[in-house]
Amino acid sequence: MSTIDSVLKENRLFPPSEDFRVKANVSGMEGYNALCEQANNDYEGFWADLGRELVSWKQPFTKVLNSTEAPFYKWFEDGTLNVSYNCLDRHLAGSGDKPAIIFEADDGTSTPVTYRELHQRVCQFANGLRSLGVKKGDRVVVYMPMGVEAVVAMQACARIGAIHSVVFGGFSAKSLQERIGDARASLVITANEGLRGGKSVPLQAVVDDALALGGCESIQHIVVFQRTQTAPAQWDARNVWWHELTAQQPTECEPEWMNAEDPLFILYTSGSTGKPKGIQHSSGGYLLGTLVTMKWVFDYKPDDVFWCTADVGWITGHSYVCYGPLAIGATQVVFEGIPTYPDANRFWSMIARHKVTTFYTAPTAIRSLIKLGADLPGQHDLSSLRLLGTVGEPINPEAWIWYHEVVGGGRCPIVDTWWQTETGAHMIAPLPGAVATKPGSCTLPLPGILADIVDESGAPVEPGKGGALVIKKPWPSMVRTIWGDPDRFKKTYFPEEFNGQLYLAGDSAHTDENGYIWIMGRIDDVLNVSGHRLGTMEIESALVANPLVAEAAVVGRPHEIKGEAVVAFVVLKQNRPEGEDAKRIARELREWVAHEIGKIAQPDEIRFGENLPKTRSGKIMRRLLRVIAKGEEITQDVSTLENPAILEQLRVSAL
Ligand code: WTA
Repeated sequence: MSTIDSVLKENRLFPPSEDFRVKANVSGMEGYNALCEQANNDYEGFWADLGRELVSWKQPFTKVLNSTEAPFYKWFEDGTLNVSYNCLDRHLAGSGDKPAIIFEADDGTSTPVTYRELHQRVCQFANGLRSLGVKKGDRVVVYMPMGVEAVVAMQACARIGAIHSVVFGGFSAKSLQERIGDARASLVITANEGLRGGKSVPLQAVVDDALALGGCESIQHIVVFQRTQTAPAQWDARNVWWHELTAQQPTECEPEWMNAEDPLFILYTSGSTGKPKGIQHSSGGYLLGTLVTMKWVFDYKPDDVFWCTADVGWITGHSYVCYGPLAIGATQVVFEGIPTYPDANRFWSMIARHKVTTFYTAPTAIRSLIKLGADLPGQHDLSSLRLLGTVGEPINPEAWIWYHEVVGGGRCPIVDTWWQTETGAHMIAPLPGAVATKPGSCTLPLPGILADIVDESGAPVEPGKGGALVIKKPWPSMVRTIWGDPDRFKKTYFPEEFNGQLYLAGDSAHTDENGYIWIMGRIDDVLNVSGHRLGTMEIESALVANPLVAEAAVVGRPHEIKGEAVVAFVVLKQNRPEGEDAKRIARELREWVAHEIGKIAQPDEIRFGENLPKTRSGKIMRRLLRVIAKGEEITQDVSTLENPAILEQLRVSAL
C-alpha cells in the first residue's frame, strides 16, 4: 500500500522555530524532559500538582490515586468541584466580556457570545432542566446540531450534575433509541431541525421515530430548540420548547457540587461487538485532562482564537469544543456547517475572518480539501495561524506537508494528536515548542503518560517492530467504566493476557529510531472511516437484520480521502443477484444501513456471493476478504478453505 510505504520511509524532522520555542508553555526538550522526569519521580505528586494548579475545587482533594479496585481507578476522590463552574464562573471576574464563542452559522452570519452571556444562558437552561425535575445523576440525551445551544445543553447538564449522553446528529432513530434505552435517560434535548450545507437536517422527527420504536419509557420530556421556522410534524404533551422553558428562568444557578469521581458524561463508541459501548467519564480527572492538554499541546495563550472543527457528537467535540477551551478561558470558533459550503474556501475564509490562531481538524478533511482546491488557502490571509493540529487517524505525509506549507505557511508546528474516546484527552502528541515533528508520526507520549508497545505476552517489542499500543499506568482523564457493563470494561481494556495491568488501546503501533510512535491501525474489528469509529460487527448485524440477507461480513479497505472505506460481502436468502437486480438490492441495503445506524456506516461497496469464504470449522476468513476488498491478488494459502470457488465470485462482483 503506497501510503504505508511512504509513511515508513518518512523521516524529515521539523523542529519548532526559535520564536515558537521561546514563547511556548513547555519550551524545548529541556522543558519536556523536566516534566517527564517529575512524573517518573513522583507520579501521583506530578498529577496532584497539576490538579491543584489548573482546576478550581470547592473542596480540595487530599487523596490522589486510589488503585484498590483496579482497573476501576479513582482520582482526586475526596475533592469536590463543578465542571461548568470551572468553564464559566471562574472567568467572569477577569474575562466576563471576553468572547467565549464566536458562532458561525451555516449561512455565514457570525455571533460572538461572551463568557458572561454564555454563563447566563447556561444558568437559565440549567434552571429550566431543574424545573422539569432533572437532578444529579439523571441521564440526559443530547441530539443537537452544532451550535451554541449544544454547548449550553452540555454545560447545563454539568452544572446540575446530570450525566449527558450526546448522540451525533447523523445517527439514525434506531441508534438513538438504543442509546436512550441503554442509559435509561429521562430527557432528550434536540432541535426541530439542523442546518448543514444549505440543507435542513431532521432532528426532532428522528427523536419522535426513536421514541416510537419503544424501549424509551424512561423519557419524561423532550426539549426542542427552534433552529428553523419549520413547524414540527408532531408535538406531544412531553415536548417543551427551549425558548419557553428558559424565558422566565433566573440567570444565576447554583452549581451542584460534584465529587471528582461523579460521572460527567457517557459517550457511546464502537467496539468489536455489535453493541456500542457507553464510555463513562469522570468530572475531576476528565476536566484536568482537557485543561493540561490545552496548555501543553495547544500551547494556549490568552489572545488565541481556537478552532476545533469537530462536532460535539464525538469525543473531540466534547474535550476540545465544549470543555477544554472554556475551562481554560479561550475564545473559540464554533461552526454549524460543513467545509464545502458554499464552496471549498469555507475553512480558509473562516480562519482569515476570525483571525484563528489554532486550528484543529481531521486528516480526512485535509485530504478532501486538497482535492477540492489545493491552492485555495493561498487566496486567504492565514497569517493569524500559529499552530495546527490533526486528530482521528494517521495523516499521510503528503497531506501533512501540504497542511504545513500551504495552510501553515511553513511556520506553524503541527500537533498530530493520538487519543481516543476512552482516554478523554490527548495522550501521544508533540508539545509544539519542544518536540520536533515528523510527518505521519504522533511522536512522543505526553509527560505523565506511560505508553509502550508490546507483544501478545505483554513484553515490550524492539524499536521498529509492530505491537499493541498500551498505557502502563492509569491517568486522570481515563474512561472509568462502560456504562452498565463493568465486566466488558475490564475484559476490553485491561485483559487477562496482560494480568489486568495494562490499558489496551486497540491500536497497533511501532517506534522508530528516535523513539517516535507511529500508529498503524486498529487491531480489533473497528474501522476508521473519515476519522469516525465504526464496528464491523455493528454493520454486519444491521445487514443481517434485513429480511433479504442470510449472512454478511464487513471489512475495511484503504480509501484515498476517507482513510478507510466500508466493504460488505453479502449472501442473500434468495439466489445471488446479478445485473440490475444486484444494483437495486445493493441500493436497498445501503439505505437500510443508513436507517439502522446512520449514513456514516453505509457500505461504500457491496459484493454478493453465494457464500462467504470459510474455514472447514465455519469461521469466515476475513483476511481473505480484506485482500479481495483491496482488489489484490490472493497469495495466501487457501488450502483450509471449504469452498475456494467463492473467491472468484466475490472478486468480480463489486457494486
Ligand atoms: C484513531 C478520536 C492515528 C486510533 C479522538 C484510535 C488516530 C481511534 C489518531 C480513536 C492519530 C485517533 N493518529 N490514529 N493522531 N487519533 N486515532 O475514539 O485508531 O473516535 O484508537 O477518538 O482513532 O477514535 P475515537
